[in-house]
Amino acid sequence: MVAGAKLDGGRAAANIAAMASFPPDFLFGVSTAAYQIEGAMQEDGRGRSIWDVFSRLSGKVENDDTGDTACDHYHRWAGDLDLIAQANLDVYRFSIAWPRLFPNGRLPSRNEAGFDFYDRLVDGCLAREISPWPCLYHWDLPQALQDHEGPFGGGWSDRDIVGRFTDYALAAAERLSDRIEHLFLFNEPSVFTTLGYLGGMHAPGVKSIQAYRAAVHHVNLTTGQTLAAIRSEHPKLLLGTVLNLPFVEPAGDGDADEAAARKVEAQSNGAFIDPLFFGRYPEEIEQSMAPYVEEGDMERCKGAIDALGINYYARQRVAADPKLGPDRPKRLAPPAGARLTDMGWEILGDGLRRQLLVLKERYGNPTVYVTENGAAFPEPETVTGAELSDPERVAFFDEYLGACAQAVEEGCNLKGYLAWSLLDNFEWAHGYAKRFGLVHVDYRTQKRTPKASYAWLADLSRTKTLAGG
Ligand code: FCB
Repeated sequence: MVAGAKLDGGRAAANIAAMASFPPDFLFGVSTAAYQIEGAMQEDGRGRSIWDVFSRLSGKVENDDTGDTACDHYHRWAGDLDLIAQANLDVYRFSIAWPRLFPNGRLPSRNEAGFDFYDRLVDGCLAREISPWPCLYHWDLPQALQDHEGPFGGGWSDRDIVGRFTDYALAAAERLSDRIEHLFLFNEPSVFTTLGYLGGMHAPGVKSIQAYRAAVHHVNLTTGQTLAAIRSEHPKLLLGTVLNLPFVEPAGDGDADEAAARKVEAQSNGAFIDPLFFGRYPEEIEQSMAPYVEEGDMERCKGAIDALGINYYARQRVAADPKLGPDRPKRLAPPAGARLTDMGWEILGDGLRRQLLVLKERYGNPTVYVTENGAAFPEPETVTGAELSDPERVAFFDEYLGACAQAVEEGCNLKGYLAWSLLDNFEWAHGYAKRFGLVHVDYRTQKRTPKASYAWLADLSRTKTLAGG
């Protein structure tokens, strides 16, 4: 239901117990993404990705920043894994850069040095008793595939990509399946298709409704097909994908706002989760997707996953706009007085709880992990002490984890929580201006300084108990 009681704010207001405990097997961890932290863009045979190209176009990224060096994780991975281990965390979700394994996206370009890097990373996790959770696609498409055009455009808009991704995924699974238990396919298809192919604010910077809808469909087709392919070769791997699923809420009680909210929910959430779970598009968008759907496609989109990753940042309020009509619902900015992060995103932990309940009630209560949740707040570029105080981030985590504990109480099959992110990093179109890390990075020296939220999460992972409220 998109409708329902209004959301509450804060742990206390949301009636979340002052003391909340997580089950003993509840996992804690952190997430990162290759382009945002690795750097070493031209090393060891890596090919160019759409983000290398896009970030070089003047004015596309704040301050014209690029991921060329980022957190230099490609060289500093061992110390970064130590930080994860020292925080008692169970899981590290990182992404594999497709252009490191296959510089032009296709099998003949195979680059052993790229595979070697992820070997080192996976082995490094295991040596520290951290469970490695690779994600195969966190937005760094090989540029050569973007340059390959079909009738609706290149990259994800070109149907040829379905096979290319499956080839890549099988090669990565083949290399790592003896050491990993979990493998995730995509990170947030709704974000990379919307911002990359419709809005043009992210790589590859395309602005076309056709390219966008084709991209949405091809990601869905790729998800179903790749899940089936990996499962038949590696039946023991636990497979999943990661969706960004904001809690979508009508601004008012009337039918028009309700219908508008249903439309937005279909566009941003249902467009990806419904094909995967039910083998169909939500009726609100079915007709607009029809030109891209070939015979038999929807059955192929449906896939069996072992775990769904949900990335959660903020709720989305929606209103009908009588001037624009029912097809153009308005996505509202946070209400006046809302608590905001440095991204301008609304802080409201109860939205996450409500969205987890949607997964329970409407999607059959799948095994779910929160694979990203976190907040940026203004912080200095350089710090001198041994720890940086970040009380707003601690309060943010406390509220959202309270919401998670409550969702578990209410029967959601939520099995773990991964914070975004281990390190401050390249925040896409914002460059280095937004800091999401548990650990501060001084980009001039690459010095890492843990924030108070790092120690806070370490403590929670050890005790599995949220104290206070
Ligand atoms: C998510 C992305 C992640 C990061 C956070 C803040 O949408 O998956 O890479 O940028 O937002």
